[in-house]
Amino acid sequence: MNQQRFDNKVVIVTGAASGMGKASALRFAAEGAKVWCADVNAEGAADTAKEITTAGGTARNSHFDVTSVELCQSLVADVVEAFGGLDILCNIAGLGGTTAMAEETEQHWKLVMDVNINGPFFLSQAALPHLLASKGNIVNISSTAGLIGQAYMSSYCASKHALIGLTKTMALEFGRKGIRINAICPGGTNTQFLAGFTFPDDCDEDLLLRASFLAEFAEADDIANLVCFTASDEAKFINGAILSVDGGMVAG
Ligand SMILES: NC(=O)c1ccc[n+]([C@@H]2O[C@H](COP(=O)([O-])OP(=O)(O)OC[C@H]3O[C@@H](n4cnc5c(N)ncnc54)[C@H](O)[C@@H]3O)[C@@H](O)[C@H]2O)c1
Repeated sequence: MNQQRFDNKVVIVTGAASGMGKASALRFAAEGAKVWCADVNAEGAADTAKEITTAGGTARNSHFDVTSVELCQSLVADVVEAFGGLDILCNIAGLGGTTAMAEETEQHWKLVMDVNINGPFFLSQAALPHLLASKGNIVNISSTAGLIGQAYMSSYCASKHALIGLTKTMALEFGRKGIRINAICPGGTNTQFLAGFTFPDDCDEDLLLRASFLAEFAEADDIANLVCFTASDEAKFINGAILSVDGGMVAG
């Protein structure tokens, strides 16, 4: 059999139960990786892992809540114990929602920050010693909302901008030590995530139109393609990059 891009590589995918996380997990596994499917939706993560093993690949799964620092640490420990190391961490789990800034609650703001930026920080921190050993890499899923302001998405935009700042800082801090950290910024993508996007009744439609440049959405596989390329050795000189997959939405 021909050598594949991720033969002998160990990958953690958060958000592996659905959407881009599931598409990425399936793609990594199809190209030889041992994949750990982690998601707060335990049943969905198990389904993704089952799909991989049924197809002859290698996968494990666990219930994982990225908002728990303790679970971030134990996830990495479990993966390293089961698979003998860690090569790639994909921070894909995410949470959105739309609300007028004046209506944003403390509870929702803090939850979005915990899932979209605090979790990726603590999971990356736990993974770093192993990634330094394997000369591995991290792929973070940010958003076009990490690059430009989007009305009625204050918590989401702030969290995704923060993830880009974290990505660049980590890339500088660890680039000379042989590991890479990059971020991908999808635009609207056809997943269950978009179901949470209902805008306030009295919203300014002109502001919404600014964020809906395209008539159609990307598919999860369109994003998984870039996740896997970025994580592969083909991208060995790409570090600290913020890569858009949005059909040109933030081009101007
Ligand atoms: N779909 C879009 O239009 C779009 C656009 C830009 C960026 N994104 C980002 O893409 C990423 C993937 O989203 P998707 O579109 O595939 O949506 P999705 O809803 O299909 O997948 C998100 C996954 O994250 C999991 N998750 C949520 N909270 C979690 C937690 N506390 N711990 C662990 N897992 C948790 C969910 O269970 C789900 O499986 C997210 O980070 C999202 O912000 C999505």
